Amino acid sequence: MRIIICENYEELSEKGAEFFKAQVTLKPDSVLGLATGGTPVGLYKKLIEYNKNGSLDFSRVTSFNLDEYYPIAPDNDQSYRYFMNENLFDHVNIDKTRTYVPDGLAKDPEAQCKAYEALLEEKGPVDIQLLGIGRNGHIGFNEPDEKLNAVTHITGLTESTVEANARFFADISQVPTKALTMGIGTILKSKKIVMLISGKEKHEVLSELLNDDITTKNPATLLKVHPDVVIICDKAAYEG
Ligand code: F6R
Repeated sequence: MRIIICENYEELSEKGAEFFKAQVTLKPDSVLGLATGGTPVGLYKKLIEYNKNGSLDFSRVTSFNLDEYYPIAPDNDQSYRYFMNENLFDHVNIDKTRTYVPDGLAKDPEAQCKAYEALLEEKGPVDIQLLGIGRNGHIGFNEPDEKLNAVTHITGLTESTVEANARFFADISQVPTKALTMGIGTILKSKKIVMLISGKEKHEVLSELLNDDITTKNPATLLKVHPDVVIICDKAAYEG
């Protein structure tokens, strides 16, 4: 794992966006793996800026998001589909029919997960995967556990994740307690992984990631087996 330490969130967002810009410049039909949450918002703003000034063309890009709450409608303003439209897709020249997010309304969630994994097999591999990290080390919605799931699956969210995500909802009781998420194996199939870590509340989890242990109790540590992971963090996360 390579680590890039940035002065602040602005610099982290710009550095992260540069990786995506370079990827799409070198391979215009790249498959991008995308994430939601607070951390990537600044990076998406930069990508919109590059698209508007003509230095980044999304017209041949395909994208796959890591996860989606379940159940949730795509037009619910808390859904990850809505988030992606608002924070990126509606502002760039991406073909939305090639932007994939797990279907939060699927009648049969297990079948939806299988179909998502199969679609990734067909269109992938993901050239570059963007990741955030939970304070408990979750990536996507792969929460700490005795065992982790390799493929896209339906999962329950831990209490700490529900609490962390409550900031986006009017009330904690509205936070969905389930999600559809790529598995650890799905994520590790990406050719390159860029993880953004910002803020001092992520200091502890970042420190764990930088020691030598691999443990399912901190799912992000599994990334250490991947040959091409770049962690971009700010000083607040690095120094605590
Ligand atoms: C989002 C996702 C999550 C977030 C993580 C960090 O698609 O998969 O793993 O990356 O919860 O969220 P923030 O950036 O809000 O701290």
